[in-house]
Amino acid sequence: MSTCIDCTALEAELRSTLSEKRFVHSLAVSQTCKDLSCQYGEELDQNVLSACGLMHDMVREWDGRKLLSYAHDHSLVLEDEEWEYPVLLHAPVAADLLAKRGFPAQLCLAVRHHSLGSVAMGRMGLVLYLADYLEPNRSHLDKQIRQQLLQAPTLERLCLLVMEMEGQYLQKKGKARAKVSQTLYEYVQGGGRL
Ligand SMILES: [Fe+2]
Ligand SMILES: [Fe+2]
Repeated sequence: MSTCIDCTALEAELRSTLSEKRFVHSLAVSQTCKDLSCQYGEELDQNVLSACGLMHDMVREWDGRKLLSYAHDHSLVLEDEEWEYPVLLHAPVAADLLAKRGFPAQLCLAVRHHSLGSVAMGRMGLVLYLADYLEPNRSHLDKQIRQQLLQAPTLERLCLLVMEMEGQYLQKKGKARAKVSQTLYEYVQGGGRL
């Protein structure tokens, strides 16, 4: 799949496999990926980025048992937290399915890390991770806070702000950040660039 990905065909596939709510979210993440990429001057292939946003949650509606069984059967390399909370497996499982279908490595890597974030997720991964949090249908963000976040001067700065908001949410629920997420947070906080 080195040339053009047919995003219209991908949309048709998702329309028939996802719930309406998840389908709308997927379209919005795809659009938000393109908006962020434009706003922050990222030099990413817009066709690949679009497909990345569309496909990131392609197996989000599989149940935990099905995700776990796929991960076992395909010997996926996973974080401890992903074994513990199987819903998180929708990211590595989708990445593996997309890699097997011949999607570009950059897209697969981004999808792989979109739930927990990672210093290894690449620029496309950073854009997807943020778009997944910021897309306008998300109920955890009101319009004003979203606008404030989008005034961040760089994607790394935006990532830090998003991770701080997520950290507060986790704290309220008595949960800690996953190790891979904490490593990303400290990296970005220390001025690291993805
Ligand atoms: Fe997801
Ligand atoms: Fe998502």
